[in-house]
Amino acid sequence: MKLLFQTLCLCLALGLAISHHGGEHLQADEPAHDHSQHHGAVLDRCDGMEMDAVAVTEIGTPYFFKGDHLFKGFHGKPELSNASFSELDDHHHLGHVDAAFRMHVPDAPEHHDHMFFFLDTKVFSYFNHTLEPGYPKDIRDVFPGVPDHLDAAVECPEEDCKTNMILFFKGDDIWHYDIKTQKLDEKEFTSMPNCTSAFRWLGHYYCFHGHQFSKFDPMTGDVHGRYPKDARDYFMRCPKFGDSTNHVEREQCSHVHLDAATSEDNGNVYAFRSHHFLRMEGEKLHSDTIESAFKELHSEPDAVFSYEGHMHMIKDNEVFVYKIGEPHTHLEGYPKSLKDELGLDGPVDAAFICQDHHIAHVIKGQTLYEVDMKATPRVPIKDGPFPLFKYVDAAMCGKDGVKIIVGNHFYHFESLKAMQEATAAPESKRVSTELFGCDH
Ligand SMILES: *[C@@H]1O[C@H](CO)[C@@H](O)[C@H](O)[C@H]1NC(C)=O
Ligand SMILES: *[C@@H]1O[C@H](CO)[C@@H](O)[C@H](O)[C@H]1NC(C)=O
Ligand SMILES: *[C@@H]1O[C@H](CO)[C@@H](O)[C@H](O)[C@H]1NC(C)=O
Repeated sequence: MKLLFQTLCLCLALGLAISHHGGEHLQADEPAHDHSQHHGAVLDRCDGMEMDAVAVTEIGTPYFFKGDHLFKGFHGKPELSNASFSELDDHHHLGHVDAAFRMHVPDAPEHHDHMFFFLDTKVFSYFNHTLEPGYPKDIRDVFPGVPDHLDAAVECPEEDCKTNMILFFKGDDIWHYDIKTQKLDEKEFTSMPNCTSAFRWLGHYYCFHGHQFSKFDPMTGDVHGRYPKDARDYFMRCPKFGDSTNHVEREQCSHVHLDAATSEDNGNVYAFRSHHFLRMEGEKLHSDTIESAFKELHSEPDAVFSYEGHMHMIKDNEVFVYKIGEPHTHLEGYPKSLKDELGLDGPVDAAFICQDHHIAHVIKGQTLYEVDMKATPRVPIKDGPFPLFKYVDAAMCGKDGVKIIVGNHFYHFESLKAMQEATAAPESKRVSTELFGCDH
């Protein structure tokens, strides 16, 4: 008991421990803008809104806060924040969250992975959507010296900032807060815009301002490369947005999940996301709308696989088949029902055929099916459970084996056999940088 107590005191003395990966965010509090949206009106992030705060949950889902609403992940509709974090309301007439981040403190489990929210003068600590006892507290009691009414905050683990820190933002002021020593160091980040929210995602730091963002170095505040960019290009799934922007770069670098992907026998890769697709022929990249190249499909396939020069595209309970060429031509008689074509009921999550084979592998939830494309009628054989992933967005098989794509990551297996025999997922790699060659 004594030991436990000492440990607890140590952790409290550490302040809030250590932060580490995860994202965070912050938000802004500009009195001038659209308070009308804070209550009731339909919020559409594809309109180009400025977020109040961004943070990653303990399970890695980014949450974007706007007014009294919250968007979970990079797509989907707004929800009331108080449905997920009810006390934010009790203690406050929730206008909005000013700032938020996820604490990563492996050596202080009582703070590890907690989400911290800042509202006016108070700070809230949540784990698993449950408010920790004793919270909310005054910001000054938990983070001495840090001002009230923040605009943004983001954690910076020691691998990026030498010691575990939190960056706080208010107006054009920026502070480094050392979690262990509680030392607050004001920084001059002259090239940084005023951030209204900030976020660590996949090891990079993003400052959001308006509907744009800039990627910055958390130690120096330097912004390298062409910024600001539009947040809708990289952090949101906005079907109707982007006609005037660079499709290739957006599709290469977006953090939004893919709908489907396929590798053709000649090694070309097609990846589908919302209303757009990306084609990779070696190093050469091309992007266009699905509507323009696969008109009948229109958008958002569930799964796509390549077989004998044709692309089979599954959407809900239908299969569209295109002969690959310039232009791609939709085969007569299609779409056909998925049940008639593959003997399966939709929706399915992913599908692939490995080179020189005629077995379609279809992933549906956590089950893998095999369908022999040469058999008539085609009958699915349940190949077995596929427990390595809770869900799969897309999958493809090429000369170098199978790639399973989940969110922003993919998992590479040397072969189909290696995948079927695996008892654990291999190391994850990033879709944007390692699959599509995005340089940032
Ligand atoms: C959540 O907030 C909305 C409006 O902001 C309010 O109408 C509703 O009663 C609140 N729900 C809870 C459970 O507090
Ligand atoms: C999170 O909360 C839910 C109920 O709200 C509970 O069922 C679950 O066990 C909790 N998870 C953890 C890790 O505490
Ligand atoms: C940034 O914040 C400062 C206040 O700290 C303010 O004076 C300045 O106008 C802001 N700049 C912009 C572009 O909003």
